[in-house]
Amino acid sequence: MSTLTKLALGMMGKLRPRPAKGTAATSIALPAVDRHGGLPLMEAFAQRRSAREFAPDALPIEVLSALLWAAWGVNRPGGHRTAPSAIDCQEIDLFVALPTGAYLYDATAHALQLVTGSDVRRVTGYQDFVDEAPLDLVFVADHARMTPVPAGQRERYACVAAGAIAQNVYLYAASAGLATVLRAWIDRTAIADALGLTHDQQVLLSQTVGYPKR
Ligand SMILES: Cc1cc2nc3c(=O)[nH]c(=O)nc-3n(C[C@H](O)[C@H](O)[C@H](O)COP(=O)(O)O)c2cc1C
Repeated sequence: MSTLTKLALGMMGKLRPRPAKGTAATSIALPAVDRHGGLPLMEAFAQRRSAREFAPDALPIEVLSALLWAAWGVNRPGGHRTAPSAIDCQEIDLFVALPTGAYLYDATAHALQLVTGSDVRRVTGYQDFVDEAPLDLVFVADHARMTPVPAGQRERYACVAAGAIAQNVYLYAASAGLATVLRAWIDRTAIADALGLTHDQQVLLSQTVGYPKR
């Protein structure tokens, strides 16, 4: 769908998900992640960049698993994560929009839990490539988990935490030869509706990931 059409539908409150392709499992166990290998860190920094052209090819489950773990997985005892959060509130929820449906990344179980059996990729941003790229992530702050943080600081701190996760995605993408772009030009109301979010949950950003267009 073109950006203009999305803008028009968004203004009318009618930017909606598409029917999913295939059947969505209610829960997807992600394979164990190999914590070794990948590009040396300095080479990953050298390769990090935004890309806006994607091949439609699906990401293998091993790649999706490693990407999500790198982004916001549990990396040590105590449930601590690969990205920082203020007072370790871990307020960011990572939603995973796939052609088969939208899932919540459950870092503790390292699994995907189905949120909706619709294809919400088109709703995750105004730019046309988000519809067909194989994965759009959505960063959502759950303010109910931020009670230790002063109320006036919560949104700011959540944005910082989301930024750290986004950079993890960029660096994993650089290491794995994937293309990605972080996006703030999104219809937050349409996304919240599509994902059935509560009033405590605030949509912050989206990020598209896929193979580079050949
Ligand atoms: C908070 C934030 C919001 C962004 N929003 C968008 C966006 O909506 N659409 C887009 O194509 N790129 C977006 N970008 C990506 C920037 O345009 C990109 O990082 C910048 O042009 C620098 O390019 P580079 O990432 O390749 O170094 C965003 C980046 C950040 C940090």
